[in-house]
Amino acid sequence: MSAQTPDETPVVLEVTGIDVHFEGVIALDGVSLTVRANQIVGVIGPNGAGKTTLFNAVSRFVTPAAGTITYHGHSLLDLPTWRLAHLGIARTLQGLGLWPTLTVLENVIAGAPSRTPLAADMLAFPSADRRTRTLREEAMANLVELGVADRAGAYPGALPHGVQKRVIIARALMARPSLLLLDEPASGLSATDVNQLIELLGSLRSRMAIALVEHHVDMVMAVSDTITVLNLGQVIASGPPEAIRANSEVANAYLGQTVAHA
Ligand SMILES: Nc1ncnc2c1ncn2[C@@H]1O[C@H](COP(=O)(O)OP(=O)(O)OP(=O)(O)O)[C@@H](O)[C@H]1O
Ligand SMILES: [Mg+2]
Repeated sequence: MSAQTPDETPVVLEVTGIDVHFEGVIALDGVSLTVRANQIVGVIGPNGAGKTTLFNAVSRFVTPAAGTITYHGHSLLDLPTWRLAHLGIARTLQGLGLWPTLTVLENVIAGAPSRTPLAADMLAFPSADRRTRTLREEAMANLVELGVADRAGAYPGALPHGVQKRVIIARALMARPSLLLLDEPASGLSATDVNQLIELLGSLRSRMAIALVEHHVDMVMAVSDTITVLNLGQVIASGPPEAIRANSEVANAYLGQTVAHA
């Protein structure tokens, strides 16, 4: 279950008043979001509300026309995308995005940010072998944590959807993130898989902050400390799960909505 995070907990991500426009479409309009250490923040809203665009702005796939985004107090807007994994920001995409011709283990290893070799590594022999071994061990440890180590040698296409979803989280963990952005991790999962995902997020939060975009509202309510609701690019509500559940504007935004999953 969610735990309230006190306000004095350090802020990991601070998004303030961001606007994102796409040729005539206002995807985000003055959106703000705060994620604190060891907190799980849910982001919900109807299809097209701007949830993925918010993650795209944080991961620098799109550049906001206005507003600020800071990570541990430093502006992200001046940084190129490739630096983010080095800083400890990892994300999973709304689709699966696994390479079909790589094994599960290779897919996970590919999630490791390239680390500049230390001088000691370069002098030691054979450093490349050692780095490869370290990455394999780290990737295997992540697969163990996700409960899918027995599939390490399989190709993603041969695996059930629920297993593939775990592999993409294992891959994101290779960045050793302090901020993990998950875009619809529960889509297409069985009830059992969703329950296991809830448990996993509860355990990951002890070492990172998590922002979670999800249409599975019951799951978001179960794991989140706070929830931000987007509708038509604007934040229409933000607060603890019980307040969001009782909010009539939120109910109206969802009412009659058939949610399409990617
Ligand atoms: N690259 C793009 N070019 C043009 N329009 C875009 C682009 N990305 C998103 N949009 C538009 O911005 C709006 C917000 O889209 P976004 O994908 O962020 O919504 P979402 O809340 O993630 O929806 P869903 O729940 O369906 O995933 C939509 O109107 C969408 O069509
Ligand atoms: Mg989306």
